[in-house]
Amino acid sequence: MIRSLLQVEGAPSESQQPQDGGSKTNIALIVLAVIAALAVSALLIVFVYYCHIRCKVKKKSQSQRFKSKNVQLPDSTTVSTVSLEQRESQVFTFKQLQGATCNFNQGNVVGHGGFGSVFRGVLPDGRQAAIKQLDRSSKQGDHEFRIEVDMLSRLHSPYLVGLLGYCADQDHRLLVYEYMPNGNLQEHLYSDGTSGNPPILNWETRMRIALDSAKGLEYLHECVSPPVIHRDFKSSNILLDSNFNAKVSDFGLAKLGSDKVGGLVSTRVLGTHGYVAPEYALTGHLTTKSDVYSYGVVLLELLTGRVPVDMKRPPGQGVLVSWALPRLTDRDKLVEMVDPVMEGQFAVKDLIQVAAIAAMCVQPEADYRPLMTDVVQSLIPLVKHKKGSKIVSTPDFHHRMVTLKSSSIDSGSSGAGEN
Ligand SMILES: Nc1ncnc2c1ncn2[C@@H]1O[C@H](COP(=O)(O)OP(=O)(O)OP(=O)(O)O)[C@@H](O)[C@H]1O
Ligand SMILES: [Mg+2]
Repeated sequence: MIRSLLQVEGAPSESQQPQDGGSKTNIALIVLAVIAALAVSALLIVFVYYCHIRCKVKKKSQSQRFKSKNVQLPDSTTVSTVSLEQRESQVFTFKQLQGATCNFNQGNVVGHGGFGSVFRGVLPDGRQAAIKQLDRSSKQGDHEFRIEVDMLSRLHSPYLVGLLGYCADQDHRLLVYEYMPNGNLQEHLYSDGTSGNPPILNWETRMRIALDSAKGLEYLHECVSPPVIHRDFKSSNILLDSNFNAKVSDFGLAKLGSDKVGGLVSTRVLGTHGYVAPEYALTGHLTTKSDVYSYGVVLLELLTGRVPVDMKRPPGQGVLVSWALPRLTDRDKLVEMVDPVMEGQFAVKDLIQVAAIAAMCVQPEADYRPLMTDVVQSLIPLVKHKKGSKIVSTPDFHHRMVTLKSSSIDSGSSGAGEN
């Protein structure tokens, strides 16, 4: 003990060498500890800064996404898309739309449908518009309405009737569409063509309408992800502009309708009698091929000038598809079934081609029906070389892919899906 104290306090001894080594080690350890502490602090600072920046960016992108619309979507229903595709739909006050329609004057009504009445109007900026006033009983919640509007305002194609804006003032729900001066296709097909009534369409115009509306469905099925299924494709939902260019309307609107009427599933959900694909009617299973079937029915209407269901016709002729299907592949019967007003307007080989497309589209088995892209490709040669026509067609247009992520496009819940 005394020896060890002497060694520590006294003059240098033989044990001094190892003590010098120990203090060097201690200093090295202290330096290391300081470096480690600095490194950890630096990392902490970097992490805190990263979190701060991330939070800022997230807040900024959320506020930008919905800045000038009053649409508040929860994160789970965020709609994302190619940002350049997004155009803001205008928000109108009820007062503005009252003014646009002369207080919803009955003289401005252009039609009535399952959702309510449609009025012609002039917007404050001078544009003509079709203003659809949704019946209060037929609307779903405010949330669904807004999501639907948000989705519809992101779909842009020259073959779809554009949504210009909407009104969700108090309990009013209105949709504002581009105005289509020549009304719907149905009116023209079943008109007698006398003065004051819509003109009867010739073969050439009908083929052009068939192609334009096929392109509208092709856009919804192939250029939007996940695909949008129209659910209610029919001749009254094909609207015609001043040059008889056709545009598909009411895509996605079916979801705004009331699902239940007196406890029963309404026809709104099931589409329209005569146009609904058999598998959808029987099982409720909805796919893009259900739209292809409805498209086939419209093609048959264009060919024959007959309504999809008419029980006043002789037995066996009441349901258009059942009557037409066996005739579509029989050359002689095929010529006989064409709308008589188009006599002499078409080449038989073109007729055979259109009949083949229609026959494929209305196949009872969904898998045998073509994709709308195939339909478009088959129709193009039938209308392309009509340069001398007075009717100006929509110039060739290439759609851009749009990605939608929204609970409003419930491809799963309604059984919808891509085939
Ligand atoms: N954008 C528009 N431009 C001009 N007319 C339109 C426009 N939208 C609708 N219409 C007219 O209003 C009518 C009613 O339209 P609406 O979509 O409410 O019903 P529908 O298509 O006839 O039937 P459903 O409600 O079963 O779809 C149409 O048939 C059409 O003549
Ligand atoms: Mg409609």
